[in-house]
Amino acid sequence: MSTYLILKHLHMTTAYLTVALFALRLLLDAVGKPAWRQTPLRWIPHANDTILLVAAISLLVAGSWNPLTQGWLLGKILLLLGYIAAGLFALKVTVSRPVRVVAAVLALLQVSAIFHLAMAKPVIF
Ligand code: HEM
Repeated sequence: MSTYLILKHLHMTTAYLTVALFALRLLLDAVGKPAWRQTPLRWIPHANDTILLVAAISLLVAGSWNPLTQGWLLGKILLLLGYIAAGLFALKVTVSRPVRVVAAVLALLQVSAIFHLAMAKPVIF
């Protein structure tokens, strides 16, 4: 398998994991088990997301992708920032429950849009 394909598989695997780990933490909070913050679940998602981003940047370099000429890629990067911001609010214990619910929905919508852009690669500009 080529280096590019290995990177792509790594990127995709960590992409699915980021959603699964985010959903798991939301679920644990929703059922009143916030103690996951004292378990490895506190750092595993950060490690996964770091690998996801390193693989993404490696794909950009290896595949000569340019976010300034590929609108779907720029869209992914902007949505990623939104996903990170909304995700932080959704998991913050000091934030009120209604705000956290809205933030969780926004985060899930944005990560769904990232998947759509990644798979459909629509021509935006
Ligand atoms: C949470 C964030 C992200 C998720 C969930 C995600 C998800 C995915 C998925 C599922 C694919 C495979 C699409 C397919 O079926 O072909 C993909 C491809 C790709 N992603 Fe991401 N991605 C994310 C962030 C990023 C970022 C930030 C960049 C760039 C800086 C990036 C660059 C790429 C590139 C270049 C490909 C194309 C690989 C190819 O088709 O050969 N991704 N992404």
